[in-house]
Amino acid sequence: MGTTQVSDPAAKDRAKRMKWWHEARFGMFVHWGLYSQLGRHEWVMNRERIPVREYEKLAHTWKPKPRPAREWAALAKQAGMKYMVMTTKHHEGFCLWDTKQTDYNAVKMGPKRDLVAEYVEACREFGLKIGFYYSLMDWHHPDGARCAKDEKARRRFVDFTHGCVRELMSNYGKIDILWYDVSWPLSSPELWESAKMTGMARALQPHLIVNNRAQLPEDFGTPEEHIRAAEPGRAWEACMTFNGSWGWQPAPPEDWHSVRSVLKMLREVTAGGGNLLLNIGPLPDGSVPDLARERLTAVGKWLAKNGEAVYGKVDRCDGRFEWMPTGQFTLKGKTAYYWCSRWPGAELAIGGLKSKLVKASFLESGKSIDFVQEKDRLILKGLPKSSPDKIAQVTVLKLEFATPPKQVLGAGCVVLK
Ligand code: GLC
Repeated sequence: MGTTQVSDPAAKDRAKRMKWWHEARFGMFVHWGLYSQLGRHEWVMNRERIPVREYEKLAHTWKPKPRPAREWAALAKQAGMKYMVMTTKHHEGFCLWDTKQTDYNAVKMGPKRDLVAEYVEACREFGLKIGFYYSLMDWHHPDGARCAKDEKARRRFVDFTHGCVRELMSNYGKIDILWYDVSWPLSSPELWESAKMTGMARALQPHLIVNNRAQLPEDFGTPEEHIRAAEPGRAWEACMTFNGSWGWQPAPPEDWHSVRSVLKMLREVTAGGGNLLLNIGPLPDGSVPDLARERLTAVGKWLAKNGEAVYGKVDRCDGRFEWMPTGQFTLKGKTAYYWCSRWPGAELAIGGLKSKLVKASFLESGKSIDFVQEKDRLILKGLPKSSPDKIAQVTVLKLEFATPPKQVLGAGCVVLK
């Protein structure tokens, strides 16, 4: 069974390889497949126990409109996202590209087109980095489950899997991210021959960034549906649905992340030095759901004005700042960005800042703000009555300090003299 554990001679140049990714901060995840036609989540085949032969019929009825990936990429660009990751094959096993590994693919069946090629072309047209999601688990492949108990089946299935990854890494030019998913049912990286597989992918795409879901840590961790920073020094990307389902599923507006909620997620990942991969589940024809379009468009407008607080090299805020009722921070060296999401009115006070403030301004307009800094209290003065940000009422205040800022607030009160 292949060599394992360290697939990654590339670990040594990781920082260099991942620089663009860290600075990009924000990407679009796209879940699109046969399941989109049913509109009941991408796990529908498993959750409803749909027999393989019955599910397969969806491969004949799937007729997406021409080139929907252009719409996704245009929206991603406009939303301030810098990269995309698309499902080339989800757990259902249907391959969206022109593969020789199985006839269960988009070129031989329903769409009769290479949807991965269209996606890659669209990313390039809009200047976005390109990621491929690939599900190791496969509910359609005859060896997909029995490989756990039958060595011959394992051999065939691992060859199939590696063959798919090889095609994806060979046939579409430069690919930036390989995003593995669910490694059921094989219980170790040795059984998947993960190191060999990823080593092969890296040999074909030397700058490739690889996630941790083939049972080896590789380049980055993937917290799902929650935002929790990895240990310092470890790269991470939170992947989040827009409305609770990755694949297209109609849902009431209240179930979709609001513009403010997306900005909150962006603030949290930035403060933790991570990334946000936010999903859209296109309709069966490939259209972007209206609510995703609407909200991402507004997020993009906000980022066009406030991107400095998000993109680029940031410092982790861990342990540097306390919670505040009016907002939260992100940080770049000596400059802190206060994302004020509950506007206080004419004055804003922040307690416990231990560094000397040199300058305060509105990030969006550059207009400076008067302030006084007493011992334990910074007061910004002469502010407008209501939040100047009309997109989401999240106004970013840029606070430039003499030294990297630190805030310390106990539970106690100021002692009156
Ligand atoms: C999960 C789900 C899957 C989804 C993925 C995204 O592992 O099984 O449906 O594609 O997470 O992170």
